[in-house]
Amino acid sequence: MKAGELFRGAKTRTDRCIVVAGASGGIGQPLSLLLKASPLIDELALYDVVNTPGVGADLSHISSPAKVTAFLPKEDGMKHAFTGADIVVIPAGIPRKPGMTRDDLFKINAGIVRDLVKGCAENCPNAYLLIISNPVNSTVPIAAEVLKAAKVFDPKKLFGVTTLDVVRAETFVAEITGQKNPAATTIPVIGGHSGETIVPLFSLAKPSVNIPADKLDALTNRVQFGGDEVVKAKDGAGSATLSMAYAGFRFAENVIKAVKGESGIVAPTYVYLPGVDGGDEIQKATGCDFFSVPVELGPGGAKKAINVLKDVNDYEKKLLAKCYEGLTGNISKGIEFIQNPP
Ligand code: NAD
Ligand code: LMR
Repeated sequence: MKAGELFRGAKTRTDRCIVVAGASGGIGQPLSLLLKASPLIDELALYDVVNTPGVGADLSHISSPAKVTAFLPKEDGMKHAFTGADIVVIPAGIPRKPGMTRDDLFKINAGIVRDLVKGCAENCPNAYLLIISNPVNSTVPIAAEVLKAAKVFDPKKLFGVTTLDVVRAETFVAEITGQKNPAATTIPVIGGHSGETIVPLFSLAKPSVNIPADKLDALTNRVQFGGDEVVKAKDGAGSATLSMAYAGFRFAENVIKAVKGESGIVAPTYVYLPGVDGGDEIQKATGCDFFSVPVELGPGGAKKAINVLKDVNDYEKKLLAKCYEGLTGNISKGIEFIQNPP
């Protein structure tokens, strides 16, 4: 399949079109596979700077309903990929190697996310944007600034994908409690997506979980630094891809289901608080404009940010104090990158 071969033009594009930007990468490929297998999607558009024709040809042989289209930057590929899209998921950018922080990725990934979001603002201004590229704490503020500058910012439609932190919390808790289905326990993980800005709230797990006091520090640390565990194990070959594809698919599926009218879907995600109902009081309590909290999703995107802060225990309050400190700087760095370009 040549890039763009299956493109049918914006006017004939089917209702449920999802774009993966960075589709040929470690996350992009398995995420695209999961999306292709989903009956909720009519068209899956793959965009990357390399290899989308091959990835697209491969996926297009799968006998699920979604049509697969594939684009490269040449021949206005970004424009064709994004035009008429309902959802754009962005896992484009470089991953960490051992010894790097997520913030070390800013130099390269900030520009990649800026340019892709500019493309979204121009070609699919009403799309839901799901940002996976790191450092999420800064790339989501970058996306918001780009959309604001283009006068198309709808905070209810911009999400930083922090689901992997939730998935890890569920998994690691189950290793302690012996729960057979880890995902059956709901554990809010709030704040940002790096180290101490990630705050798991085990005291608010539903159903409640009993974590022995001597295991709590290690468990908290493992959720906060779970990404480092994978980076170290991959030994230079990148960071989490398969678990991230699972997490990214889970969040994208939640957005699609909510947009289609399913009610009661709540998922932690990193949002612009002043633009989401219920976000103002969380913004006041945290001092952060962007924060991951459980968000009720609805047909318009983020319907309500749920303030779990008032229910946290003293242990979690201490974690939160450290989170606010780190997150504020990450957010300003992203905003500054657009407002005062280097
Ligand atoms: P990867 O290098 O395997 O894949 C990245 C892909 O992006 C490549 O195919 C590359 O060609 C593509 N790309 C680069 N520039 C592009 C551009 N301008 N337009 C379109 N595509 C472009 O990396 P990966 O392992 O898939 O990770 C991708 C990003 O996701 C990294 O920044 C990583 O840190 C981040 N990540 C986030 C989470 C999270 O929880 N949010 C989890 C894991 C990884
Ligand atoms: C993760 O949490 O696995 C990702 O953010 C990738 C990373 O750099 O750790």
